[in-house]
Amino acid sequence: MKILVTGGTGYIGSHTVVELHNAGHEVVAIDNFDNSYPDVLDNIEKITGKKVVFQKVDIRDKKALTDFMLSQKGIDAVIHFAAFKAVGESVQNPLKYYENNVGGTVNLLYAMEAAGISQIAFSSSCTVYGEANPPVDESTAKPEAQSPYGNTKQICEEVLFDYTKASNLKVVSLRYFNPVGAHDSSLIGELPIGVPNNLVPFITQTAIGKREVLTVFGNDYPTIDGTCIRDYIHVVDLAKAHVKAIEFLEQKKYSEAYSVFNLGTGQGNSVLEVIQSFEKVSGEKVNYKIGPRRGGDVIQIYANCDKATNVLGWKTERDLDNCMQTAWAWEKHLAQK
Ligand code: NAD
Ligand code: WQD
Repeated sequence: MKILVTGGTGYIGSHTVVELHNAGHEVVAIDNFDNSYPDVLDNIEKITGKKVVFQKVDIRDKKALTDFMLSQKGIDAVIHFAAFKAVGESVQNPLKYYENNVGGTVNLLYAMEAAGISQIAFSSSCTVYGEANPPVDESTAKPEAQSPYGNTKQICEEVLFDYTKASNLKVVSLRYFNPVGAHDSSLIGELPIGVPNNLVPFITQTAIGKREVLTVFGNDYPTIDGTCIRDYIHVVDLAKAHVKAIEFLEQKKYSEAYSVFNLGTGQGNSVLEVIQSFEKVSGEKVNYKIGPRRGGDVIQIYANCDKATNVLGWKTERDLDNCMQTAWAWEKHLAQK
């Protein structure tokens, strides 16, 4: 298949481009480098031996996006990663998030229609479940979103669902749990700009000496050790699920025009378990302290992924230790640069 990947130089997008190439698909990637760098393209090429067909396009620019899509022949499906993802920033600047994440998705749908493309995989998030009783499956009710970022994911899911009713569009919405880790080559990985919000980059940056101390946000939750529980999924496992998702669309395995899949490991780990796993595989001590709870954190969430296993034929192959090992190798690679 020929796949257009938006946000193709980002964290999950770059790993997915690699897996699409590995599976023999042709890829065209676009990005505006708002949260990634052009050298990712060279690094993908080093991994796969294949040059990435790429164009710098901002999905907020409807005309440029449409012109680009019309210039491309034979695209079978789109995988849509391009979005802003910082929860806190979305609270400070909600319009920026609605414009890019929702407006950009609407532009993309118009451009796809103009180019006659009717299959899309969309990056959604477990954030749509809010505080739910885990393990959560895809039928779990979606409460009111807790941030403008979370709301953009809910709205985009609704936009896509509604549009399937008015067109021949076929959609797979993929609800990621907590993506972590990096490619085994250490050539691509997560590049948090500024102080990381997420746990794993904060752990690795503390261990390498970029941050003085990691604050564990609360140890008085009703969990095994008092810290919050999440479902940490290796980014390469996640990337491989996208290959399955577009093949599911192409082979018309869907029963409805709009399908949703959870992508997680099915296992929850506490913040302290993540730190312990990191210390075990790296041999480094993490300087951490217990601090107050972080506003908006859910106590615990992890996925029921039976649907992805049964319908897509996908399941994770890597464990938490491998997530930590590859995240650490990536951090050390960045430090050498
Ligand atoms: P990322 O920031 O690394 O990648 C997103 C890419 O999109 C970046 O390269 C950025 O430059 C690009 N982009 C942003 N706005 C654009 C625009 N207007 N035009 C063109 N390109 C644009 O983020 P990621 O972690 O790879 O996330 C990918 C997707 O997965 C996002 O939609 C995100 O909301 C979703 N998601 C991420 C997580 C996570 O924890 N990483 C969890 C759930 C869902
Ligand atoms: C994980 C755990 C923190 C940092 C976020 C988004 C969500 C999704 C994934 C996109 C929590 C604790 C963290 C730190 C800590 N993204 N923590 N000290 O909050 O589960 O999800 O990323 O869709 O929408 O909200 O991930 O990595 O921030 O936190 O103790 O310095 O680590 O409290 O329990 P989160 P995270």
